[in-house]
Amino acid sequence: MAILKIARMGHPVLLQPAKPVEDPTSPEIAQLVDDMLDTLEDAGGIGLAAPQVHVSKRVVIFFIPKGRSDGEGQPLTVMVNPEIEPLGDEKDLDWEACLSVPDLMGKVPRYTNIKYSWTNLEGERQERTASGFHARAVQHECDHLDGFLYPMRMTDMTQLGFAEEMGRYVREDDDAEPVE
Ligand code: NI
Repeated sequence: MAILKIARMGHPVLLQPAKPVEDPTSPEIAQLVDDMLDTLEDAGGIGLAAPQVHVSKRVVIFFIPKGRSDGEGQPLTVMVNPEIEPLGDEKDLDWEACLSVPDLMGKVPRYTNIKYSWTNLEGERQERTASGFHARAVQHECDHLDGFLYPMRMTDMTQLGFAEEMGRYVREDDDAEPVE
Protein backbone atom coordinates (compact mmCIF):
# COMPACT_ATOMS: atom_id res chain seq x y z
CA MET A 1 0.00 0.00 0.00
CA ALA A 2 1.26 3.43 -0.87
CA ILE A 3 -0.36 6.82 -0.81
CA LEU A 4 1.22 8.86 -3.58
CA LYS A 5 1.77 12.60 -3.68
CA ILE A 6 -0.78 14.41 -5.85
CA ALA A 7 0.58 16.91 -8.39
CA ARG A 8 -1.08 20.32 -8.26
CA MET A 9 -1.79 22.76 -11.07
CA GLY A 10 1.54 24.32 -12.02
CA HIS A 11 3.43 21.00 -12.12
CA PRO A 12 4.44 20.28 -15.73
CA VAL A 13 3.41 16.60 -15.56
CA LEU A 14 -0.22 17.76 -15.61
CA LEU A 15 0.26 19.51 -18.95
CA GLN A 16 1.97 16.62 -20.79
CA PRO A 17 0.10 14.19 -23.02
CA ALA A 18 0.46 10.85 -21.20
CA LYS A 19 1.95 7.79 -22.95
CA PRO A 20 -0.17 4.83 -24.02
CA VAL A 21 0.37 1.69 -21.90
CA GLU A 22 1.86 -1.12 -23.99
CA ASP A 23 0.91 -3.98 -21.65
CA PRO A 24 -2.11 -3.29 -19.41
CA THR A 25 -1.62 -6.71 -17.76
CA SER A 26 1.92 -5.99 -16.53
CA PRO A 27 2.74 -6.11 -12.78
CA GLU A 28 4.01 -2.55 -13.07
CA ILE A 29 0.56 -1.28 -14.08
CA ALA A 30 -1.15 -3.41 -11.40
CA GLN A 31 1.13 -1.81 -8.80
CA LEU A 32 0.45 1.69 -10.14
CA VAL A 33 -3.32 1.06 -9.98
CA ASP A 34 -3.06 -0.30 -6.41
CA ASP A 35 -1.24 2.84 -5.34
CA MET A 36 -3.72 5.07 -7.18
CA LEU A 37 -6.60 3.32 -5.37
CA ASP A 38 -4.92 3.95 -2.00
CA THR A 39 -4.29 7.56 -2.98
CA LEU A 40 -7.88 8.16 -4.13
CA GLU A 41 -9.29 6.61 -0.98
CA ASP A 42 -7.05 8.82 1.14
CA ALA A 43 -7.75 12.01 -0.84
CA GLY A 44 -11.49 11.42 -1.14
CA GLY A 45 -12.31 12.23 -4.76
CA ILE A 46 -14.31 10.21 -7.27
CA GLY A 47 -11.52 9.76 -9.80
CA LEU A 48 -7.80 9.97 -10.36
CA ALA A 49 -5.58 9.89 -13.45
CA ALA A 50 -1.98 8.65 -13.40
CA PRO A 51 -0.47 12.05 -14.34
CA GLN A 52 -1.98 13.37 -11.10
CA VAL A 53 0.43 11.09 -9.23
CA HIS A 54 3.36 12.12 -11.45
CA VAL A 55 3.13 9.09 -13.75
CA SER A 56 2.65 10.13 -17.37
CA LYS A 57 0.72 7.02 -18.49
CA ARG A 58 -2.80 6.57 -19.82
CA VAL A 59 -4.41 5.09 -16.69
CA VAL A 60 -7.55 6.36 -14.92
CA ILE A 61 -9.59 5.09 -11.97
CA PHE A 62 -13.04 6.39 -11.06
CA PHE A 63 -16.42 5.48 -9.63
CA ILE A 64 -19.83 7.15 -9.77
CA PRO A 65 -21.62 7.30 -6.42
CA LYS A 66 -25.22 6.04 -6.26
CA GLY A 67 -27.73 8.80 -6.80
CA ARG A 68 -25.53 10.73 -9.21
CA SER A 69 -26.27 10.63 -12.90
CA ASP A 70 -27.69 7.26 -13.89
CA GLY A 71 -29.01 6.63 -10.39
CA GLU A 72 -27.34 3.29 -9.70
CA GLY A 73 -23.88 4.77 -10.10
CA GLN A 74 -20.92 2.87 -11.47
CA PRO A 75 -18.57 0.59 -9.57
CA LEU A 76 -14.91 1.45 -9.28
CA THR A 77 -13.55 1.20 -12.81
CA VAL A 78 -9.91 0.92 -13.84
CA MET A 79 -9.28 2.16 -17.37
CA VAL A 80 -6.09 1.75 -19.37
CA ASN A 81 -5.77 3.59 -22.69
CA PRO A 82 -9.33 4.99 -22.56
CA GLU A 83 -10.97 6.66 -25.54
CA ILE A 84 -14.05 8.87 -25.67
CA GLU A 85 -16.46 9.44 -28.51
CA PRO A 86 -19.08 12.20 -28.08
CA LEU A 87 -22.62 11.12 -29.03
CA GLY A 88 -24.04 14.28 -30.56
CA ASP A 89 -23.08 17.92 -30.06
CA GLU A 90 -25.14 18.62 -26.93
CA LYS A 91 -23.19 19.95 -23.94
CA ASP A 92 -24.10 20.66 -20.31
CA LEU A 93 -22.56 23.27 -18.05
CA ASP A 94 -21.97 22.08 -14.49
CA TRP A 95 -19.63 22.25 -11.52
CA GLU A 96 -16.31 20.46 -11.32
CA ALA A 97 -13.49 20.29 -8.86
CA CYS A 98 -10.15 18.48 -9.04
CA LEU A 99 -7.68 17.03 -6.55
CA SER A 100 -4.94 18.81 -8.55
CA VAL A 101 -6.72 22.15 -8.22
CA PRO A 102 -7.47 22.11 -4.49
CA ASP A 103 -10.16 24.26 -2.87
CA LEU A 104 -11.56 25.60 -6.16
CA MET A 105 -14.58 24.73 -8.26
CA GLY A 106 -15.82 25.96 -11.60
CA LYS A 107 -18.54 25.47 -14.19
CA VAL A 108 -17.33 23.50 -17.18
CA PRO A 109 -19.05 22.65 -20.48
CA ARG A 110 -18.89 18.90 -21.30
CA TYR A 111 -20.59 16.62 -23.79
CA THR A 112 -23.88 15.38 -22.35
CA ASN A 113 -23.71 11.93 -23.97
CA ILE A 114 -20.62 9.89 -24.76
CA LYS A 115 -19.46 6.41 -25.61
CA TYR A 116 -16.17 5.39 -24.04
CA SER A 117 -13.90 2.39 -24.21
CA TRP A 118 -10.82 1.16 -22.37
CA THR A 119 -8.66 -1.87 -21.67
CA ASN A 120 -8.97 -3.47 -18.23
CA LEU A 121 -6.15 -5.05 -16.22
CA GLU A 122 -6.94 -8.45 -17.80
CA GLY A 123 -6.23 -6.96 -21.20
CA GLU A 124 -9.87 -6.98 -22.39
CA ARG A 125 -11.38 -4.05 -24.25
CA GLN A 126 -14.56 -2.73 -22.59
CA GLU A 127 -17.17 -0.19 -23.66
CA ARG A 128 -19.95 1.85 -22.05
CA THR A 129 -22.24 4.71 -22.87
CA ALA A 130 -22.72 7.50 -20.34
CA SER A 131 -24.62 10.71 -19.84
CA GLY A 132 -24.80 13.56 -17.36
CA PHE A 133 -22.56 13.35 -14.30
CA HIS A 134 -21.14 9.99 -15.37
CA ALA A 135 -20.16 11.35 -18.80
CA ARG A 136 -18.73 14.48 -17.16
CA ALA A 137 -16.55 12.51 -14.75
CA VAL A 138 -15.11 10.37 -17.56
CA GLN A 139 -14.36 13.45 -19.69
CA HIS A 140 -12.71 15.20 -16.73
CA GLU A 141 -10.48 12.22 -15.89
CA CYS A 142 -9.52 11.44 -19.48
CA ASP A 143 -8.67 15.11 -20.05
CA HIS A 144 -5.86 14.61 -17.51
CA LEU A 145 -4.29 12.17 -20.00
CA ASP A 146 -4.15 14.88 -22.65
CA GLY A 147 -2.72 17.59 -20.41
CA PHE A 148 -5.99 19.45 -19.72
CA LEU A 149 -7.20 20.65 -16.33
CA TYR A 150 -10.84 21.70 -16.00
CA PRO A 151 -10.12 25.47 -15.81
CA MET A 152 -8.61 25.14 -19.31
CA ARG A 153 -12.03 23.92 -20.54
CA MET A 154 -14.01 26.76 -18.95
CA THR A 155 -15.64 29.40 -21.11
CA ASP A 156 -16.72 31.80 -18.33
CA MET A 157 -14.02 32.49 -15.75
CA THR A 158 -16.49 34.34 -13.49
CA GLN A 159 -17.66 30.79 -12.69
CA LEU A 160 -14.33 29.79 -11.10
CA GLY A 161 -13.91 30.33 -7.39
CA PHE A 162 -13.12 28.91 -4.00
CA ALA A 163 -15.63 26.16 -3.18
CA GLU A 164 -16.13 27.58 0.29
CA GLU A 165 -17.20 30.96 -1.11
CA MET A 166 -19.19 29.54 -4.03
CA GLY A 167 -21.07 27.29 -1.60
CA ARG A 168 -22.37 30.38 0.16
CA TYR A 169 -23.47 32.21 -2.96
CA VAL A 170 -24.65 29.73 -5.60
CA ARG A 171 -28.40 29.79 -6.07
CA GLU A 172 -30.39 27.16 -4.24
CA ASP A 173 -31.69 25.70 -7.49
CA ASP A 174 -28.11 25.20 -8.68
CA ASP A 175 -26.79 21.85 -7.48
CA ALA A 176 -23.26 22.79 -6.47
CA GLU A 177 -22.00 19.27 -5.90
CA PRO A 178 -18.91 19.15 -8.09
CA VAL A 179 -17.31 16.29 -9.95
CA GLU A 180 -13.79 15.77 -8.62
NI1 NI B 1 -9.04 16.17 -11.91
